[in-house]
Amino acid sequence: MPAGGFGIDVESVAESLQGAAGTETGTRRDTVRIALTKGRLEKKTLALLKSAGYDISELEAGSRKLIFALPDTGVEIVLAKAADVITYVEHGVCDMGVVGKDTIMEKGGSFYEMVDLGFGKCRFALATKKGKDVYGGYQTPVIATKYPAVTKAFFNRKNMDVETIKIEGSVELAPLLELADAIVDIVETGTTLKENGLEVIEDVAPISARVIVNLASAKLKKAAIQKVIAELESGLEG
Ligand code: PRP
Repeated sequence: MPAGGFGIDVESVAESLQGAAGTETGTRRDTVRIALTKGRLEKKTLALLKSAGYDISELEAGSRKLIFALPDTGVEIVLAKAADVITYVEHGVCDMGVVGKDTIMEKGGSFYEMVDLGFGKCRFALATKKGKDVYGGYQTPVIATKYPAVTKAFFNRKNMDVETIKIEGSVELAPLLELADAIVDIVETGTTLKENGLEVIEDVAPISARVIVNLASAKLKKAAIQKVIAELESGLEG
């Protein structure tokens, strides 16, 4: 049968949209802007950039500055809190980000998760007071956590109904104060649990630092982004 049709070159549309938006909503075409998570991952990410051959002396000098241009590379580093790394990358004001899988699992979003950097290793675990039977009572178990989305997804997979209570820090307090039957939290060395008389009942998910990439940048700056990723991977091997 005779038929008509049309196609759209999505990459050209994205390119002209970015051009129209100027530099306010996107990054410059000749720059790769990377958002790094401040805090726990910061030191290891900077060490990785250094072993990948980048001059990070300005970052090492220690200041309250938040944006750094790495000399002679076209790479810019932005320091942000973990959840904000995702926000900046999703909105395209940063092309790439380094963020923990914990934040990715909790916040979600539209971006490519490209590389597991293998550091910042820890895990999400369900834990409670030593000897306590979390599932033993007649009432719906109460789980305290900084990560309600991760917790709900975990118990959904088990087809179990739980009540979650959001805690902002030191979640280990919740079962000790009898606010909750158990916690879902990050366990790294296990010291915090041990020193507070708590123990892991079950592992929920492994965590490590990941490289994420903005959806449009992945196409529009493909070569430059792949170059940065290759350099980071070479730094990992070195
Ligand atoms: C995290 C986590 C645990 C602790 C686990 O807290 O929430 O409390 O680290 O580490 P460990 O197994 O090596 O003892 P963080 O230090 O980030 O502080 P917070 O509790 O104030 O969020």
